[in-house]
Amino acid sequence: MADKKATLKVDGIEEQFELPVYEGTVGPDVVDVRSLSGKGLFTYDPGFMSTAATESKITYIDGAAGVLLHRGYPIEQLAEKSDYLETCYLLLHGELPSAEEKETFVNTIKNHTMVHEQLSHFFNGFRRDAHPMAIMCGVVGALSAFYHDSLDIHDEHHRVVSAHRLIAKMPTLAAMVYKYSIGQPFMFPRNDLSYAENFLHMMFNTPCEEKKISPVLAKAMDRIFLLHADHEQNASTSTVRLAGSTGANPFACIASGIAALWGPAHGGANEAVLNMLEEIGDESNIDKFIAKAKDKEDPFRLMGFGHRVYKNFDPRAKVMKQTCDEVLAELGMEDDPLLKIAMKLEKIATEDEYFVKRGLYPNVDFYSGIILKAIGIPTELFTVIFATGRTPGWIAHWNEMISSDYRIGRPRQLYTGHPKRDYPA
Ligand code: CMC
Repeated sequence: MADKKATLKVDGIEEQFELPVYEGTVGPDVVDVRSLSGKGLFTYDPGFMSTAATESKITYIDGAAGVLLHRGYPIEQLAEKSDYLETCYLLLHGELPSAEEKETFVNTIKNHTMVHEQLSHFFNGFRRDAHPMAIMCGVVGALSAFYHDSLDIHDEHHRVVSAHRLIAKMPTLAAMVYKYSIGQPFMFPRNDLSYAENFLHMMFNTPCEEKKISPVLAKAMDRIFLLHADHEQNASTSTVRLAGSTGANPFACIASGIAALWGPAHGGANEAVLNMLEEIGDESNIDKFIAKAKDKEDPFRLMGFGHRVYKNFDPRAKVMKQTCDEVLAELGMEDDPLLKIAMKLEKIATEDEYFVKRGLYPNVDFYSGIILKAIGIPTELFTVIFATGRTPGWIAHWNEMISSDYRIGRPRQLYTGHPKRDYPA
């Protein structure tokens, strides 16, 4: 119940509106404006800058302080002490698993890593040079055609099984997208490997040759998945919730999240970072690109810098930078020309007044792009990796919504078009 109230007075309307104000456990208070539509008023908030679209218990972000908590646990502690699958469990169930629960969860995920053989035929319908995110939208959406038992979204057990299937199959599909693009046979998952090792195995091994997976690279991969696991009500998660609010199948909802993630202002940024570094091409061009980024007449922005919520630093970027250093050292790539450009950009942008004043710091995608490039993952696949990591977050939010007293998401508008007019006689 609300202890506080806000009063709204609108010019031209005599009645004053008393609106309940709710307090979260932490974070800003929230004014409940739901009663306004009945009074002929809407609130206006394009970009949802001030709108809490839902109540949630999963993830908390304090952008000014650079805080990211999953179920209360700081992301830095999870990155250091936990691993991706344990974090998935935490997001889905609300608590860290016991040792036994963790073992059961890991084994359950392993039981679902293969995809139906029929699904592999889907790939032939795509051009070999199709963008991996386009294929992911298609094949993840297509999963809904394979699991009829997942169709009763009001059955809790069905929801749990769908969650396991999605978390387990995303790396398999991501690796299949890559293998298809280079014309190599799909690799079956290996359930004796960890989640991250198995992904690298399906990506880089072939039926002719199985290379040993580097523990440093497997740890980096696990960390990339973990650091992307959830991020509150971001654009793709809100898309999943909105699609889910209609009662749509969870696989279709996650496909809609993948589509929303694709854009360069969201998950597509890690790919855009590498494209930008290649476009800069040489350290001598950096100043020119910095000037372009500052020029208001020029649409160019420094990719991998800035964040809608984090205006001081991105806590995920701090951990990612450390992993980035480890990976580059493991691969002996400290002198790679593109990475040198990246490091110089990072230095300039963190010192330049334009960027500092606007709180534009390197975000998680700046470093994840560099790590993925170093591991040998092609640039077009970067956002697919993000989507794989973000899957537990999307499902946790979808599940939270379906388990609650929810209504279909249906925003309203400020209409500025023609009023009614007659069709010409
Ligand atoms: N390069 C140059 N200027 C920038 C940049 C940038 N990357 N980002 C923001 N600005 C400027 C912008 O021009 C504006 O300046 P002014 O106040 O003079 O008009 C000011 O900073 C505020 O920008 P905004 O567009 O109002 O900020 P926003 O919160 O709406 O946008 C953002 C956030 C992430 C979309 C934006 O910073 C951006 O486009 N960054 C590059 C893309 C990127 O790296 N995205 C990944 C985000 S992290 C992954 C994820 O969580 O999805």
